[in-house]
Amino acid sequence: MKRFVIWGCGGHAREVNWLCEQLGCVVIGFLDERPEMKGQIVNDIPVLGDLSDIEDLREDVDVICAGVGDPALKKRFVEKTLEAGFHPAKALIHPFVKISTRNRIGEGSIICEGSVLTDNIEIGKYVIVNRSANISHDVVIGDYATIAPGANIAGNVTIGEGTYIGIGASIRENISIGSWAVIGGGAFVKDDVPDRTLAAGVPAQIKKHYEENPKKEDPEASIEERIEKEIEDNLEENPEENLAEKE
Ligand SMILES: CC(C)(COP(=O)(O)OP(=O)(O)OC[C@H]1O[C@@H](n2cnc3c(N)ncnc32)[C@H](O)[C@@H]1OP(=O)(O)O)[C@@H](O)C(=O)NCCC(=O)NCCS
Repeated sequence: MKRFVIWGCGGHAREVNWLCEQLGCVVIGFLDERPEMKGQIVNDIPVLGDLSDIEDLREDVDVICAGVGDPALKKRFVEKTLEAGFHPAKALIHPFVKISTRNRIGEGSIICEGSVLTDNIEIGKYVIVNRSANISHDVVIGDYATIAPGANIAGNVTIGEGTYIGIGASIRENISIGSWAVIGGGAFVKDDVPDRTLAAGVPAQIKKHYEENPKKEDPEASIEERIEKEIEDNLEENPEENLAEKE
């Protein structure tokens, strides 16, 4: 049986591990770049370290890159995984998902419990459709996008690469949302949203434009600086969560 490792060891990665349990998949470890996380045990599963720590497993495991929700971080983990010659996992779909066989789901995407995907939907690669998202006919979702729990996406909506749809947001039919955009939690989107734009509220208003991809890492930063920034960002979003749990 194929064995898996999951990028990240925070809350979402643990949920992905649970999804794997439901599918009867064997997860042998989490991956985390932070040296201090290597060797820790999370939900009875070891944190194996970085890809360089598991080179001898290259042909034995599939790597689940969608263990983190931040699209930019997810994309970096995908690129790193492919560059290192590891095999990314195929799409994983929870058994309690309602999904038409006429939909297309890209490699490495994850469709979580309770989601409903109706007809002729195209989901790109490494997309996360989190729990109880409702996706209607003819929707197209680009690579690396993350759809947070309970989002409602009406028919003929297009969502660009790397876009983050916040928890409980609703998007009306025929809307186009650009790439690397962010839709705030609870928004009702009734107008198109350009690339790299935050739209939030009811009805959603444009709040700001991101010069780079939202949360995009500084390419000049050292690995330590990047990791520190990821931790800061995650703490701002989830101040109640244990630092050690976050990717
Ligand atoms: C949108 C979000 C990511 C914040 O993005 P950000 O780039 O850090 O944006 P900021 O916090 O700088 O906010 C910019 C403006 O948008 C407003 N805003 C942010 N999120 C908002 C929301 N959900 N609804 C309404 N307004 C919102 C802020 O109040 C601020 O307004 P102001 O300029 O008038 O003061 C965050 O607020 C959010 O909604 N996250 C969703 C989290 C989620 O889905 N979690 C699920 C995890 S599984």
